[in-house]
Amino acid sequence: MTQKKVLVVGSGGREHTLAWALSRSPQVGQVYVAPGNAGTEWPANLNSTGLQPRASSQNVAVGSDDIAGLVELARREAIDLTVVGPEAPLAAGLVDAFQAARLPVFGPTQQAARLEASKAFAKDFMKQHNIPTGAYAVFDDYEAALGYLDSVEHQVVVKADGLAAGKGVLICDDIEQARAAVDTVMVERAFGAAGQSVVIEERLVGPEISILAWCDGRQAVPIIPARDHKRAYDNDQGPNTGGMGAFTPAPDVDGALVAEAHQTILQPVMDGMAAQGTPYVGILYAGLMLTANGPTVLEFNCRFGDPETQAVLPLLESDIYEIFQACVAGRLTESNIAWQPGACATIVMASPGYPDNYPKGLLISGLEAVAWQEDAIVFHAGTVRSGEGVVTAGGRVLAVSAVGDELAQALGRAYAGVEQIQFEGAHYRQDIGRIYQ
Ligand code: AMP
Ligand code: GLY
Repeated sequence: MTQKKVLVVGSGGREHTLAWALSRSPQVGQVYVAPGNAGTEWPANLNSTGLQPRASSQNVAVGSDDIAGLVELARREAIDLTVVGPEAPLAAGLVDAFQAARLPVFGPTQQAARLEASKAFAKDFMKQHNIPTGAYAVFDDYEAALGYLDSVEHQVVVKADGLAAGKGVLICDDIEQARAAVDTVMVERAFGAAGQSVVIEERLVGPEISILAWCDGRQAVPIIPARDHKRAYDNDQGPNTGGMGAFTPAPDVDGALVAEAHQTILQPVMDGMAAQGTPYVGILYAGLMLTANGPTVLEFNCRFGDPETQAVLPLLESDIYEIFQACVAGRLTESNIAWQPGACATIVMASPGYPDNYPKGLLISGLEAVAWQEDAIVFHAGTVRSGEGVVTAGGRVLAVSAVGDELAQALGRAYAGVEQIQFEGAHYRQDIGRIYQ
């Protein structure tokens, strides 16, 4: 069998995990990551065991926003499949460019990626297709936005339309805060051009969960649920981050809930997108609030979660290359996908100060102690090589993921890994695996 070449686009922990998972496919002979990080290069290890990678991986110095450069790379290396990690290149039309060049690619087209890229589009789409979500209105006029605030009874959340790197969301307790939030978005332009129009949503209450699914344009097959920890500090204190850790199984998300979300949300998205001529292929990430009226959509993302991916893919038993191919070919079925029993925990180590300003270039030690283990693995995020060493280069620096028969065992192994790794001021949460609501 010819060994396939795959390309992963991106440079974070999610992309390291995707590259690692693809390297474990018996069909894959070489992984490329563009641009990758200090962790996304390793030699082939064809007798790998446990969580070790198998096929080799190498970085290519092409940025994830350089669509023409990525098309050129995929052509030159005769890449059999490209998998896109982050949302920005999807929203910018990477998949459309690859399709036009007849290069196989996993991810939604630009039109389909609007489910994440434009909150206004997503809200209109949900309304049209009876997908449960909170009340909302969109304004590009400041006075009209303020007038609306006076007219509604419920508490609101004010959001910048467009991509604002997860930051354009202001949760308001009362009308004064809501007015100030509209000011922040539309007048101060705190989120830049994303604040040209503003989305004012009903504030939903309830536990928050995420359900992700593989999608082939017609069907959505849910991925095992993982729980993310968004706040920076223990006990769910401090500012929101991209995610400080994750674990699976999520005790508060059972099969019945996933089935309900599949029926009321995921499948209607598949049907609605296909009906409007923009079938959705890729990962659909539904951020949900479990309200008194059932699962209700907060937002969609058009990509894998980070760090949920690091907590989920170590338990994937099936060949991920085969699953991606099935999605791209429109022949995904539940039988394509099997998971190992057990648990997986992921602990993120972040730079001092993250999610605000943080230093870069801090030397990381202890990585070798966790490398090539059977039941734990380091997924790099904001790291680069510097001389012989590896230094920090981002807010979330790396994560240790570990598997176990039960969550407690997985957590114990992941924390044991984290404790072997050091850099100045390294910050991680001590309470991953506990849930606060
Ligand atoms: P988003 O960037 O849209 O995912 O929002 C970030 C976070 O803000 C979510 O994870 C929720 O915790 C919160 N949030 C967003 N929209 C709402 C809403 N309509 N009601 C309550 N909380 C919300
Ligand atoms: N961990 C949250 C996200 O990937 O959006």
